[in-house]
Amino acid sequence: MISEKMQNAINEQINKEMFSSYLYLSMAAYFERTGLPGAAKWMYVQSGEETGHAMKFFAHIIDRGGKVTLAAIAAPQIDWAGPMAAFKAVYEHEQFISKSITDLYETALVEKDYAAQVLLQWYINEQVEEEKNAVAVIDSMNRIEAHETAVLQLDHQLAKRGK
Ligand code: FEO
Repeated sequence: MISEKMQNAINEQINKEMFSSYLYLSMAAYFERTGLPGAAKWMYVQSGEETGHAMKFFAHIIDRGGKVTLAAIAAPQIDWAGPMAAFKAVYEHEQFISKSITDLYETALVEKDYAAQVLLQWYINEQVEEEKNAVAVIDSMNRIEAHETAVLQLDHQLAKRGK
């Protein structure tokens, strides 16, 4: 059985993951609106992954006889200054989520919750990927700067993101 403290902390994380999904869906809408369908596709995939992250925590609470408590999801931002600003916002948000995951891990250590620790190790690795993916797009954008043709080529590349 999961402790109430651990359960509550994971419930809060479910909300953060659902917000992440909502945020990236909002970015997908922004990129659709501004004529970059490849970047929109990248965001749709990212949004789906975030729902998956929330559901993995959801299942963990259920599997351990706990109570899932879903809270309201905050409205995300709807406009950004440009593609670079949006991907920088992705990176900043992922850094915030990484900190949140390591805080959860600290809670699992204090609670001596070994099952949660094993679960959270998956998320710690996942956050390395999440930050890396955002930085890779920012790096590409830094190299092409405002060159319109190159932006469209990068958009074509982003459209190839699988899953
Ligand atoms: Fe679920 Fe992007 O962290």
